[in-house]
Amino acid sequence: LSSVEVDVAALEPGMSLTVKWRGKPVFVRNRTEQEIEAARAVKLEELKDPVARNANIASDAPANDIDRSAGEGKENWLVMVGVCTHLGCIPLGQQGDFGGWFCPCHGSHYDTAGRIRKGPAPENMTVPVFEFISDTKIRIG
Ligand code: FES
Repeated sequence: LSSVEVDVAALEPGMSLTVKWRGKPVFVRNRTEQEIEAARAVKLEELKDPVARNANIASDAPANDIDRSAGEGKENWLVMVGVCTHLGCIPLGQQGDFGGWFCPCHGSHYDTAGRIRKGPAPENMTVPVFEFISDTKIRIG
């Protein structure tokens, strides 16, 4: 299947789920206010990878929180391929120095917008093509 539909109705703020898409895990997280605020407070200059890596927008868009998220009005939703950009391990959620994801393989820390902040990974985790097809359903791919 080239696309997958995900029902997110049961995901309260602070909850995540993982679906398989094209053989890879995709993390879908309903972020809390605190997580969004933490990500917004980060300046682009502080980022190791300042590019959004979001397949839904321009390839050179900066990695502002809004452009990592599902966009205006849906900024609580973060959808990204759950593969560490170092050597491809699967990071663990809500861990690490920035409260986002932590890759235990070689110690990469991602923030609450899935941006690489510390460790050997070179890039932010990728946001795949996706869209909300209803208020509670996302189609990935
Ligand atoms: Fe994630 Fe190396 S694969 S830090």
